[in-house]
Amino acid sequence: MRNMIEANTAVKVRTWPGRVPAHVGIIMDGNGRWALSRGLPRIEGHRRGVEALRVTVRAAIEFGLRYLTVYSFSAENWSRPIEEVSDLMGLLKRFIRHDLGELQKAGVKVRVIGTRENLNPEILALLEEAEALTAANTGLTLIVAFNYGSRQEIAAAARMIAAKAASGVLAPAEIDEDFFAEHLDTAGIPDPDLIIRTSGEQRLSNFLMWQAAYSEFVFVPIHWPDFDRQALADALTEFSARERRFGGVTLSHQSAKVGG
Ligand code: FPP
Repeated sequence: MRNMIEANTAVKVRTWPGRVPAHVGIIMDGNGRWALSRGLPRIEGHRRGVEALRVTVRAAIEFGLRYLTVYSFSAENWSRPIEEVSDLMGLLKRFIRHDLGELQKAGVKVRVIGTRENLNPEILALLEEAEALTAANTGLTLIVAFNYGSRQEIAAAARMIAAKAASGVLAPAEIDEDFFAEHLDTAGIPDPDLIIRTSGEQRLSNFLMWQAAYSEFVFVPIHWPDFDRQALADALTEFSARERRFGGVTLSHQSAKVGG
């Protein structure tokens, strides 16, 4: 991987000591500001955002990521003006119709996380088609967080577990972290090693809150439509230089008093 990336002079990677994260989550922020700063309608920012997503998925495959989760529509995004919501739904439909063939050819497995209740039947059918068609693929898993919110996901898991306990099939003592995680939408997917957020904002916005307990964060000052292969390479480079301790201490720090 390192050689492949360093051999390509178009991508400047300062250090890449072979530590490629298995799972990267991306909060694709700043489409609206990108458009407004150019005097364009917000939808144009979202359109360019889809293009940035295509480029990023191709780069994620090339760089050897195993999982890529993208925050495409949050449970809170329904509060946007109806025209913008409708534009975003249109883009999602077009993305699946237009790109599913390429994703399938590249061996990408599509998975969708988020609440499916009350979704438009056409969107639901498309999401299910994308998952079914690619279910057996073994390449990159592309996780589309759509109508997704971490608090809703955690509350839903708690409801499922409470129902099992109430019906007597589960003893409360059996509920541990792994058991809880198996009831989240991300069951079976390793936690994200790295979360990238574009547009300079530095918050999680209800994205993968349980799963991000030990994620590294990289905040990128550019807006999402400007994100590209080089920007992903730079974020991976920054990740590779981080020391992850998962609350413990590393050998080099064992004689010093350090925190988590
Ligand atoms: C944030 O920009 C982005 C979103 C709310 C949606 C992300 C959507 C895309 C990249 C395109 C659609 C995705 C798919 C899978 C088809 P913002 O509107 O919050 O920007 P702002 O903060 O500058 O207003």
